[in-house]
Amino acid sequence: MSKKILVTGAAGFIGSHTVDALLARGDSVIGIDNFNDYYDPMQKERNIAQHAGNPFFKINRVDICDQESVRRIVHEEKPDRIIHLAARAGVRSSVENPLLYQHVNVCGTTVLLEAAREFGVKKFVFASSSSVYGSNKKMPFSENDAVDHPISPYAATKRAGELTCSTYHHLFGIDIACLRFFTVYGPRGRPDMAPYLFTKSIAEGKEFAVFGDGSARRDFTYIDDIVAGVIAASDKNRGYEIFNLGNSQMVEVNHLIRVIEQNLTKRANVSYANPTPGDVPVTCADISKARRILGYDPQTSIEEGMRRFVAWYNEQKQK
Ligand SMILES: NC(=O)c1ccc[n+]([C@@H]2O[C@H](COP(=O)([O-])OP(=O)(O)OC[C@H]3O[C@@H](n4cnc5c(N)ncnc54)[C@H](O)[C@@H]3O)[C@@H](O)[C@H]2O)c1
Repeated sequence: MSKKILVTGAAGFIGSHTVDALLARGDSVIGIDNFNDYYDPMQKERNIAQHAGNPFFKINRVDICDQESVRRIVHEEKPDRIIHLAARAGVRSSVENPLLYQHVNVCGTTVLLEAAREFGVKKFVFASSSSVYGSNKKMPFSENDAVDHPISPYAATKRAGELTCSTYHHLFGIDIACLRFFTVYGPRGRPDMAPYLFTKSIAEGKEFAVFGDGSARRDFTYIDDIVAGVIAASDKNRGYEIFNLGNSQMVEVNHLIRVIEQNLTKRANVSYANPTPGDVPVTCADISKARRILGYDPQTSIEEGMRRFVAWYNEQKQK
């Protein structure tokens, strides 16, 4: 049966793809996004432009920290579920703006949880992050590992969000899935993230900095795989659960650069710089829990995912 789903951050990278997938399967979507200028708001406008005039989609240009507006939307729309993706994302910028990150990611999440409690929304999905694992040395990262030492303000806000979700489940019985996303990439990808930054620099023939020697390894996860996990969590999760959503493959930053070079048929001009504080050297997800409970099954290799990303990048540039 089709559902009415409130998606926060609906115009962002992961949010807009989630909206596409929900509408495609026949759900109605109420979006919230404040189109802030962390990166070009026009990219966010383009992300959802195709749904203009769709009677099953509505976008509210509202800040999630504006409690009265969020209450009004949840009261009027009566969504069956909330998928909460809006946040200040980005590790480096959180070191410069910790108070903003706390405000949006912790207070904003509490505003959504309060609205869910007050108006009886029984299912909630929260976008957490692999950054909560900090400098965890045990590979791959499992949901049972200790996460008491986040190494950036961003990571601390995501862990605080998970804990707040746990409290709301305990007190009010809301089913909540906290999803720890591992470096998500693909078409509409965020311009502050490595796949986009590297592609842009190589395409424009410009020198760019890689922090460290390029041997850092990331579990890059393709957007369609993440969206499948988000939707499965909203359909299947019961109780309070944390799930890793990654690809479970470690890819060296230097390999990512090689793949982009091949797709653009251009050489990269890299300068290696000191690692930045807050950056995690290696990430890799143990996804056995998500496989078992959600049927999560990521399919996309870095080669295929980056081929699609670079195709999207080139298409945008031509427009
Ligand atoms: N992309 C990744 O690799 C990744 C990894 C781990 C976790 N996450 C989390 O996934 C979620 C989505 O990330 P994304 O990569 O799509 O980022 P994004 O910046 O593209 O999307 C976030 C959206 O939220 C909106 N937003 C931010 N603050 C808001 C506010 N106060 N009120 C209303 N809207 C607001 C932004 O305008 C944006 O459209 C975030 O919670 C992020 O922390 C992302």
